[in-house]
Amino acid sequence: MSAQPLQTETPVKIGIHGIYKVFGPAAAEARALALLRDGVDKEQVQEQTGASVGLAGVDARIPADRITCIMGLSGSGKSTLVRHINRLIDPSAGEIRVDGKNVLALSLDELRAWRRHAISMVFQNFGLLPHLDVLANVAFGLRVRGEPVAQARAKAGQWLERVNLAGYEKRYPDELSGGMRQRVGLARALAIDAGIILMDEAFSALDPLIRYDMQDELLKLQQQLHKTIVFVTHDIAEALRLGDHIVILREGRVEQAGSPQGIIAQPANDYVRRFVMRRE
Ligand SMILES: Nc1ncnc2c1ncn2[C@@H]1O[C@H](COP(=O)(O)OP(=O)(O)OP(=O)(O)O)[C@@H](O)[C@H]1O
Ligand SMILES: [Mg+2]
Repeated sequence: MSAQPLQTETPVKIGIHGIYKVFGPAAAEARALALLRDGVDKEQVQEQTGASVGLAGVDARIPADRITCIMGLSGSGKSTLVRHINRLIDPSAGEIRVDGKNVLALSLDELRAWRRHAISMVFQNFGLLPHLDVLANVAFGLRVRGEPVAQARAKAGQWLERVNLAGYEKRYPDELSGGMRQRVGLARALAIDAGIILMDEAFSALDPLIRYDMQDELLKLQQQLHKTIVFVTHDIAEALRLGDHIVILREGRVEQAGSPQGIIAQPANDYVRRFVMRRE
């Protein structure tokens, strides 16, 4: 891995330190962890232990108020990494700090409160509730954390306007196109006004033109909102277009991290160079 410095002066919002994730029974997990720490590669570790390797020692610094893209081929560990940030997954080893605070040390109650206020997620398959209308979907997170119905609906309506869906409040998810559904997903994530938004392949299911529009939309919103966005994609063109900072994963390890300009100008190795050359 080549550790390129962040080009920006921005502070680190999320620090990922030496994260390993092995899926499997405890004994196999311990053996796999030891092998990975000795530098044995994922495939060999899986062969020798029967465990499945998600991440094999990841360090990453996610800058505050910027878009960071986690890029890599299928199975490289992107979703596993991003799910560690809101602790949908706990690591086999390593530490995650958000605003300097160790999130692995949060109690269940603290974790719940943190998820309701500080961090939100947008999913590839939209994750909307089919029996609720669009307005109620966007208001959902606000209601869950106890905001009064009128206030939650008013906020939800404002966010629907921000994503150009005013007039669709009473529709149901199955009456909308994919692009519109993802706008609802985005409005829902934004409505809880969290500083961190995790987006796992959020635009990957959309047609190319709609996907391009959504990228524009996200960039436009980000100019006003300045969120810390962690955006997972397997598409280098999308990563280069959206990312202020890019982390390229391969087989559970960081291949290169840096600014889009830095990665294009100085790919760390042939693997990254091939990606960058195919970006059109
Ligand atoms: N719950 C699990 N049990 C066993 N292995 C898992 C589990 N989750 C992930 N893995 C393994 O960890 C590795 C990384 O998976 P992950 O889903 O993070 O990849 P990804 O980069 O998000 O891929 P994709 O682009 O297909 O979504 C893969 O080899 C996968 O098989
Ligand atoms: Mg994934």
